[in-house]
Amino acid sequence: MIDIHTHILPAIDDGPTTMTESLEMCRIAVNDGIKKMIATPHVQNGMYDLDANKVLEKIHLLNQLVKQEGLDLVIFPGAEVHLSDRLLDAEILKESSILTINGGKKYILLEFPFQWVPSGTEHVIFKLRSMGFTPILPHLERNFKIQRDPYMVRHFAEMGAILQVTAQSITGDFDAAPMKCALWMLKNNLVHVIASDAHSPVGRPPILSKALKVVSDKLGEEAAKKMVLDHPRMILEGLPFNT
Ligand SMILES: [Fe+2]
Repeated sequence: MIDIHTHILPAIDDGPTTMTESLEMCRIAVNDGIKKMIATPHVQNGMYDLDANKVLEKIHLLNQLVKQEGLDLVIFPGAEVHLSDRLLDAEILKESSILTINGGKKYILLEFPFQWVPSGTEHVIFKLRSMGFTPILPHLERNFKIQRDPYMVRHFAEMGAILQVTAQSITGDFDAAPMKCALWMLKNNLVHVIASDAHSPVGRPPILSKALKVVSDKLGEEAAKKMVLDHPRMILEGLPFNT
């Protein structure tokens, strides 16, 4: 499996604080059957100043430790990018390849708030698409407004956004509302990718297999595999998205 949304790097955002913790998360991922992982640290509020060298250095070091331990896992660069009009400044996206998945300047994981739906969301999706980027919207099922009005999710998908649901929402590890919304999205064919959004070895671990099992039971193995392998691979490799 490929996990496209993780906070696996130490001391860079609200993920693990030490390399020891990061490495523990890598062991959990490998045990779960995850072979590739994209590190997507948060980019500060509207300040697109993620230090690419710092991110790449941490990834390099973690990959070295993973290899030394004989773990079958590779970590790739990415970011979880604050959704705002400023992002549409062509220079920011052209110059900061660290803001796109695996530096591919194709897929961009947007940070989506939990309390409201930003008023410019459609504009940002539309503009990013016209600039040749494909936005990925994470964990809409955890958004309070969308839980009450899930139909807007379909609209985002029709505009060409990729919809990524958090594994723990599907398995009911959060609470009833995100689970209900995630299951509604699954039923309506509105989940393209399942990712862990892992933050720690304990509370928010990089585990996808439990959600894979739930989705396999509901929609069949082939559909479930697309969400944790085929679609994530297209995103990682910067290939055209094909459902
Ligand atoms: Fe995240």
